[in-house]
Amino acid sequence: MGRKFFVGGNWKCNGTNEEVKKIISTLNAGDVPSQDVVEVVVSPPFVFLPLTKGSLRPDFHVAAQNCWVKKGGAYTGEISAEMLVNLDIPWVILGHSERRLILGESNEFVGDKVAYALSRGLKVIACVGETLEQRESGSTLEVVAAQTKAIADRVSDWTNVVVAYEPVWAIGTGKVATPAQAQEVHAELRKWLHANISPEVAASTRIIYGGSVNGANCKELAAQPDVDGFLVGGASLKPEFIDIIKSAE
Ligand code: G3P
Repeated sequence: MGRKFFVGGNWKCNGTNEEVKKIISTLNAGDVPSQDVVEVVVSPPFVFLPLTKGSLRPDFHVAAQNCWVKKGGAYTGEISAEMLVNLDIPWVILGHSERRLILGESNEFVGDKVAYALSRGLKVIACVGETLEQRESGSTLEVVAAQTKAIADRVSDWTNVVVAYEPVWAIGTGKVATPAQAQEVHAELRKWLHANISPEVAASTRIIYGGSVNGANCKELAAQPDVDGFLVGGASLKPEFIDIIKSAE
């Protein structure tokens, strides 16, 4: 398949200057596979982007956790894609379920954000995932297909897109998806890309899993053929993030 393993660390709304420096120091000392084997991207809160960018080891990269949907201007509190480019931040996470559910970001709004960020030269981790209610009602595949379609309707070049499947019921709960559950949805997402975009995009696009990944469960998940890596929350703040990166081996 030739898809390079991808491990993202989403620090969410956490950290102080001292805590961030400690995390970076732990990451910089980590013994991990080469960049040929695994792509590592860490995502601090906006306020720590310059500190992280300026002190993180050169084989790891930095993402913002969001950006605005159009060129900057009178949008109080927002951070524009142009600002991230100006700070030489290459990646951005978009469509995280916490922004979809708490802030009401619609599929279309997320699709517009992904398209705009890509147009400014950013690389995007685009998040999709169903709620527990949607899974229990059997609409998981319908939900993630609709989320992905809203992106595909606006994006033609998928070169710089990584899709993160993050079942909402597994985020922050300790209830990680089983390898079979993750593989099923990843495979269906890949089938959707194959049928609706192209066999090439389906084969080359990394589909990563997020939701209670840790040092103990990462290996079995990583062994699934359509799991191309992880987007890690809580565990990315801990030394075990290095173990999760090593699951690429
Ligand atoms: O973006 C990754 C995040 O949603 C997963 O969180 O804490 O369950 O690993 P966590």
